[in-house]
This record gives sequence, C-alpha cells and structure tokens, in this order.
Amino acid sequence: MRYQGREVDIEGRVRLVMESTLTARDRVGVQDFVLLENHNSEAAFIENLRRRFRENLIYTYIGSVLVSVNPYKELEIYSKPQMERYRGVSFYEISPHIYAVSDNTYRAMRTTSRDQCILISGESGAGKTEASKKILLYYAATCPASHHMSTLGDRLLQSNPILEAFGNAKTLRNDNSSRFGKYMDVQFDFKGVPVGGHILNYLLEKSRVVQQNHGERNFHIFYQLLDGGGNELLQMLGLERNPLSYQYLVKGSCSKVSSISDKNNWKVLMNALSVIGFTDEDQKNLLDIIASILHLGNTQFGEGEEGEAHITTEIPIANVAKLLGLEASSLSGALTHKKLTAKGEEMIIPLNFEQAMSSRDALAKAVYGRTFTWLVEKINQSLALKDDVDHSNKTFPVIGLLDIYGFEVLQRNSFEQFCINYCSEKLQQLFIELTLRSEQEEYTTEGIAWEMVKYFDNKIICDLIEEKHKGIIAILDEECLRPGETSDESFLEKLEDTLGGHPHFVTHKLANGKTRKVMSREEFRLLHYAGEVNYNVNGFLEKNNDSLNRTVKEVVCQSDNRIISQCFSREEVMDQKRPQMAATHFKNSLLKLMENLMTKEPSYVRCIKPNDVKQPGHFDEVLVRHQVRYLGLMENLRVRRAGFAYRRSFEAFLQRYKPLCPETWPNWCGRLEDGVATLVNHLGYQEEEYKLGRSKIFIRFPRTLFLTEDALQAKKPEIALTLQTSWRGYRERAKYKRIRHAIIVIQSAWRGMKARQRARRRRQAAELIRRFIKGFIYRHEDYCPENDYFLDHVRYSFLMKLSKNLPTSVLDKSWLASPPSVSEASEHLRKLHMRNMVMKYCIRIQPEWKNQLTQKVVASEIFKDQKDNYPQSVGKLFLDSRIEHDQINLKVLQTLGSDKVQYAVPVTKYDRRGFKPRSRQLLLSNTFAVLVDKTKIKQRIDYASLGGISVSSLSDGMVILHIPSEDKKQKGDVLLHCYHVIELVTKLALIARMLNHINIKPGSVRFAGARGNESFVDFVRGPELKVAKGKRGHLLVTAPRINAT
Ligand SMILES: Nc1ncnc2c1ncn2[C@@H]1O[C@H](COP(=O)(O)OP(=O)(O)O)[C@@H](O)[C@H]1O
Ligand SMILES: [Mg+2]
Repeated sequence: MRYQGREVDIEGRVRLVMESTLTARDRVGVQDFVLLENHNSEAAFIENLRRRFRENLIYTYIGSVLVSVNPYKELEIYSKPQMERYRGVSFYEISPHIYAVSDNTYRAMRTTSRDQCILISGESGAGKTEASKKILLYYAATCPASHHMSTLGDRLLQSNPILEAFGNAKTLRNDNSSRFGKYMDVQFDFKGVPVGGHILNYLLEKSRVVQQNHGERNFHIFYQLLDGGGNELLQMLGLERNPLSYQYLVKGSCSKVSSISDKNNWKVLMNALSVIGFTDEDQKNLLDIIASILHLGNTQFGEGEEGEAHITTEIPIANVAKLLGLEASSLSGALTHKKLTAKGEEMIIPLNFEQAMSSRDALAKAVYGRTFTWLVEKINQSLALKDDVDHSNKTFPVIGLLDIYGFEVLQRNSFEQFCINYCSEKLQQLFIELTLRSEQEEYTTEGIAWEMVKYFDNKIICDLIEEKHKGIIAILDEECLRPGETSDESFLEKLEDTLGGHPHFVTHKLANGKTRKVMSREEFRLLHYAGEVNYNVNGFLEKNNDSLNRTVKEVVCQSDNRIISQCFSREEVMDQKRPQMAATHFKNSLLKLMENLMTKEPSYVRCIKPNDVKQPGHFDEVLVRHQVRYLGLMENLRVRRAGFAYRRSFEAFLQRYKPLCPETWPNWCGRLEDGVATLVNHLGYQEEEYKLGRSKIFIRFPRTLFLTEDALQAKKPEIALTLQTSWRGYRERAKYKRIRHAIIVIQSAWRGMKARQRARRRRQAAELIRRFIKGFIYRHEDYCPENDYFLDHVRYSFLMKLSKNLPTSVLDKSWLASPPSVSEASEHLRKLHMRNMVMKYCIRIQPEWKNQLTQKVVASEIFKDQKDNYPQSVGKLFLDSRIEHDQINLKVLQTLGSDKVQYAVPVTKYDRRGFKPRSRQLLLSNTFAVLVDKTKIKQRIDYASLGGISVSSLSDGMVILHIPSEDKKQKGDVLLHCYHVIELVTKLALIARMLNHINIKPGSVRFAGARGNESFVDFVRGPELKVAKGKRGHLLVTAPRINAT
C-alpha cells in the first residue's frame, strides 16, 4: 500500500487511506492563514501556499475567505463521500474545501433566511468556473430534494455545458475560458429545497466570432458541431467537417486542442439541450444559425470600378439565406448597400469593400450575440420557479453565484479586455467595501479600539473609468455620438486631453521615456489594481457603437428562423432612438449587479493561478506573489488577524443564544447590552475572546462562536420539548374549551327542548283537565262542544272497559253498569252480545244434546211452575231408556215386531179397584205403549185412544193416563207411579203428540175406574211418599215436601 493510496486496488481501502492521509497531510502548513506565525510576512504567506500546493492541498482559509490554487489536474477530493463529510459540519472543524464554503453559505441562508452570495474571483484560468460548478454539484447532491428538485438539479447542472459550448473558448490563458460574465441565483424554499434558478449574463466577447488571436479559438460550439455532428446533419447544414475551410475558424490557427474532446462535448451538449427542454425545432434553428455564421464568414467581396463592393461567392451567401430563411438577393443587397435618409428622402448607397466586410462581420456578431442571449433566456424559463411550488411565501432566499471574467492581460488588449478589467476593478471594490473598509469602519463606529490597516483602495481607478462626463466610458460615448469626423485616434486624443495627469492613466504621449518604449502610439495604459494594462484603441468606437446596419436589420427580421425572428424584432427597426452604447450598457448592468450583491451576505473564493502554462505541480512564485498582492490577500489577512471573526447585533445574538442562560431565557427585559453581558458571562467567555461594541458583540475566534453554537444545538431538544409541551398544553386546553363549549351548547339546547316539551305537556294536561271538568258539569246536557270531549271519553272508556269485561257464557247475565249517556247503546250491545253468544253456543251443540235440550224445553213448557219437583229434574239428564235393552223380555220384543221401543221405564201400576201396586215395565213405541209384566204384555195402549195425561202439582210420581171409552168393558184409566215422572211424561207427550193434553192439577185428579166408575186420586203434602187407599175409595198420595232451598 502506497502512501498516496491511489495504487490500492480495493476501493474502500483507497477511500479510507485517502481520508486519513488527507487529514494528516492537511497538517502541512496552516489551514488558515490567520494561524500563521508571522502574518505580516508575504514570504511566509506564499511559502504556506506553496507547501500546501505541493501536497495537493489547494484550499486554504483567510478567516472565512477561501483561497484556492488551480491544481491543473484532477484531485480526488470531489467525490460524493467527500460531500457528505462537509455536510452540516462547522467550517473550521475540517480541512478547507470549496464544499465547506458551499455548506456554510447554505446553512447561513437556512438559519438567517438572508440571501447569500458566493463571489468567485481570480484571473482568467485561475479556476473560477470550475469552482462554481463544484458548488452547484454540491448543492445538487446534498440539498433535500423534492420531485421538482430532481429535475431542477439536473437542469441547473446541465445549463453549464450549454453556456460553455456557446460562451467559452480556448484562449492563451485557459482552454475553457468563459467569454461572458455569469451570475446565477438559486432559489430555495423554506425547507431548503432548491426550487428555481436564474442566470444573468454579462457582455459576451462577440468579436471572437469573427476574429481570434493567434493560438486561440472561436467559441467551442463551432468545433463541436463540425467534429461531433453526423454526416447527414452537416450535409443538411451545407458544412464540411474540416474547420480550416471556414474563415471564421482559421484566424487563431489552432482548431484542435489536446485537452478538449469536441466530439464528446458535442454529445454532452445535445443531451443537455434536451434535458433543459429545447425542442427539436429549437435545436434545428440553433444549429442553422451556427452554420449560417460559418457560411457568412466565407462570404467574400470584390470591388467594382467605383470602389463599390459586391459579393463574389454565391454559394455561401445562398447557404446563409437558406439556413436563416431569408431571400438571398435581399441579403446580398443589404450586405453591400446602406440606406440613408436625408431630408426625408431615402437613398441607397453602395458600400465599399471595407464597409461591406465590416457589415458582414457585424451581422455575424449580432446574430451570435443575440442568439446567446436567447439561449440564456430559454435556460431561465426552464429553471424558473414552477407553478406547483407554493408561491405564497413570496421571498424565497437565494444563493447567488458569481463567476465573472477574471483580470486579463493579453499581448494586444482591446475593448473587451477594457470591459473585463473594469469589471474586475468593480469586484475588487466590492471586496474592499465588504471586507476591508466596512469592517474597519465598523470597529470605529462601534467604538472598538482598533489600529487601521492600510490597503489600496481602487476606487480611484473605478472613477477613472466610470465617472460621469470625465470617465473613459463617458468620453468614449461622447466620441461615438459626436457629429463630425470621429475615429479611434480622435478618441485617444480626447482621453489625453481630459485625463492627462491622472496617476493611473498614461499614453505614449504622456509617458516618460522608459514607458514610451513599451507602448505604441495607438495605446493608452491603465494602472489597474492588479497591474498595468495597455489598451489598443483600434476598434473601440466601433465595438462601443455595436450597431448593425439598419438595412441589414430590416432584412434579418424577415427571417423564418424562429430564434432569429425573436431576436430581431420589427419594432427595433422602426425605433429611431439610439440604443445604449455597449460600454455604458455594461457599466449599468455592473452597477446593478453590485447593488444586488450588496444586499446579500457574501462569501469569497479567491482563485489563484500557479503558472501561466496550465501545468500541474508548477508553482510560479512571481506570478503567485503578484496575484496575492493585487487580490489584497495580505491586507485581508491583517484585518482578519487584528479583528474579530464574528459580529452580531446585540439583539440577534441575544435572540439566538438566550436559551443558553437561565437569566436571559425565555426573555430578557433589561437593556440588550446587559443581556448580552450576562449571557457571555454565563457562557464563560474570556476577556480576550470578545468585545462589546455600541450595538454589536465582536467575537474574536471562530472557535468561541462554534462552541456556543454547539451548546445551542445541544440545548435545542430541550427547547423543542418546552415548546412542544406548552404548545400541546395550549392545544389541549383550546380543544378542551371547545369541547366544553360544545357540551354546554348541546346541553342547553337539550334542556330547552325538554323544558318546552314538558311545558307543552302541562299545558295540554291543564287544557284536558279543564275540558274534563267542564264536560263533567255539562254531562247531562246534549252532546255539545262543552261536553263532547268528556262524553266521548266516558263512552270510550266505558266501551274499552266493557270490551274487557264481557260475559263469556250464556248463563252469565252480568253486564257492566253503563253511564247514562250510553245506556241505550249498552243495552243494544248486551243483547247483541248475548245473541252472539247464543248463536255460537247453538252452533257448538251436538245432535244428542240438542235432543236432550228439546226434551228439556218441552219439559219446561209442561212443568215449569206447575209441579213441585220440576226444578230438581232440570239438572238431571233425560235418558234414552231407564231399562237396559237386555232386561226387556225377548218374547215381548218379538211380539212388538217392527215397532221399536223408544223408551222403557219401570213403573208401579195401581189397580183401579183395590189400588194394589204391581211392578211393571212401561215400553213406549211410536204408536202405542205397553205395560209388561216380566214376559207378558199386560196392557197395550194405543196413543190414538189416549185422551189425556194427568199429574199432580206436587212432588209425587203419579201419572194418570186417561183412556176414554164408551166401552164399559174397557179397563179404564191407568194409574202409574214412576220415579222419573217428568222424563216419562215429557217423552210420552212427545212420542204420542200429547202436548196439549197434559193436565197438572193440585188437590185431586178424577179418573175413570172399572166399568165407567168415577174415582179420584187425592194429593196431599206429607213427610214422605206414600200411596195408599184413602177415604171414599179415593187413592191418597202423600207427596214429600220439598225444601224451598
Ligand atoms: N479544482 C480544480 N481541479 C482540477 N482542475 C482545475 C480546477 N480548477 C481549475 N482547473 C483547471 O483549470 C482550467 C481553467 O479553469 P476555469 O475554471 O475555467 O478558469 P476561469 O473560469 O477562472 O477562467 C480548467 O479547465 C481545469 O482544467
Ligand atoms: Mg471561467
């Protein structure tokens, strides 16, 4: 295993080694220049840089400023695990890194909700663009993501290859030099999720489209298209693959760069275009434009006899016209002529050769420049806050990233370098403003004892360039607008006139002998904060004018190409107003940028280039010293060392850290200053660690603040718990109150309802009682309103009661006593009910029982209230016969023949004469009756001859059958005694149909004796039954007395 760890084959081990060695090696020199022993020594400063650079430690801090030295080689310090290492870790706890700055800025944005910006400065090729890409990558990888973010992150990252393809080029300083300024805002929502982005672009170096210095290239896109585009595509665009075929690509004689793969970058670009959301049509239009610029460059002019220019190459111009959707003839015309309006008349004047060339180049630059602006706009649309993001919180905090041109000194410096270096001056101003001057001023205003650190304030140079009326830009504008003959030379003269004697301005004429030798007559020299630069005035006026011939504009705005037609509007052609001069426009946009940056909390990345030859491991001390000087890093360090790492207003400090001290938590009521003093005392700050100013606390060492911050983080769960408890308490109380209120509402509603119900019932009851009483009073009146209810009720209740008390048997004669008002109905009902019961009873009666009853009815008709022993007989059933069938003599039965015996009963027959009793059987058939003595029929009595039947009214059993006869020989009436006298008489009456011939007599009954003699049976009541011969030949029958009960 080697020390560097790269040779190790097991990946995990490599990382392990890398990390540990990284930390170990990071002990090389000091991580923070503030810790440098001799902080006044430039040599020590540079030595520290060099030692670290040698160990590939390219990052070092000066307080919170990050100094980065371009390693010119890939270092293994940008991996995902590295990102994780820096995430949420305090700035000073871990080796310096661009990720630490990124993370610190992000957290500052999250905790303070203030806009932040990271300003990356350094000269061309120092690594600014790389740094900005690393920062973006870090955010894309470590910020919390939403579904929107996952695409936004891609787009943020993919915007780079597009902008680089169209805005970067190989220069002598940098193979991938940004030829435009870029400021990018990334917007975050309240959860820290990136939700949108916006890019501002500054002054693209358009001159590069038509002209490149030796060893430099045009913008990458041209080479990428030629190298990477498919044959079919190139054919469609009318292009050849060889870049040397195009005039616009041959000037630098350097179409191939070893460090760049145009073919790969083409693929990356195409992918990026589709990620960002360029449609196929957009892409086609874009490539049409790029190709048309190449064709335009190949358009050549010839000169006519009178010096008028004409186009000598038909194919290229035809291609341009085709690709841009223009008419070839009008395009050719526009490139070789110009329209002038003099005294209201329009004239068309031919251009000379030079004019035609420059109008061609102007067109190429304008088309390219505007297309680039369109691209940025298009990317911005794709990065814009999406509608589904909550816009209610209008102020999304942003982190701004500024990657703008670095200070640049070339062999021949033109208008572009002038602008670029002016921009550098402005940024240096901002740096001075925010770190040196303001910091020192703050100590003074806060009344902190302080020894001023001297630094070079470049304001004087900024003024020299931008001052109104007297500044270089003002003079340039004036020269462009002034009527009459003006030229770059006249501009130079004007500069000399106005600025001669300025300590930072020199021209050939103004210079002393030594300087004169290294300056041409066409140059002026500015003594920039970063060094001296000679600017050649050639082309200044034209570039500042940046105007396109109106005739050309008129033609181009007819284009079918959607991008071109958006970039060149008809309104612009009609507009007679002069557009802003390029330098002024640039100045204004820079001023706006500075204003914007001033509102944000800045972090700095200062990039240093170790050598001019893009070589890894080569540390050119002179070059580095120069940069350290002009970047003001030493001054920066001195201010840092002497000063305080952090300051916070009393209010902010107290607000943030008050939970750490019981006296200040939750609220401090006294003066803020006292509160802060109490707090830091409690925290145990040492005297040298901090100072209290008038409105701010100054903390000297970052460590002090970090410890405090750590303490706060540790305290947070406790605070959260307190907040949670009181919040939950509050919420529960509120809930309880709501429930209580709801209960009371429900209760009162329910009780109200109940009470109303009760009142209603009472009212109804009172009303009822009143009606009742009234009804009772009127109860005897006819049915009338006063008594209707009462009577109805009486009836109703009577009927209801009756229905429950109806007699259930026919014998039950009971009936509910009715009130007078229903007595009639009651009577009807009673009868009805009785009838009904009778009917039901009758239906239920069996035939035998019916027979029984019929006999009983007949008995009743005969004997009721006539004979004393009748009541006793009622309860006894009549039998079909009183003698069993087998007790009757068979012979007798045979004698009777077909006449069936209907009834048989034992009787005692009394002789008429002596009244001798003889036991006999009396058999009744249908037509006659017979008296039988054992086996002999003694007497037959035909019913037809029967005259009547007599019985007494007493309780004896005597029956006298009257048989009237003229015939004296007849035996006469028959006297019988039977114990079933009622049954016998009833049966006989029925069988013989003698109902009307039954006599019931009290006292005595006459009967006919033998031979017509009349005699009597006398009946008296006695103790017991006795039949005996009485006086006068009468038969005396004593009937037993029947108890009345
Ligand atoms: N951190 C770095 N690691 C590796 N190479 C780097 C780094 N920074 C810069 N470089 C190299 O330096 C070149 C120029 O860097 P760049 O960022 O384009 O410079 P600037 O934007 O300041 O002009 C890059 O193309 C790259 O090769
Ligand atoms: Mg760059």
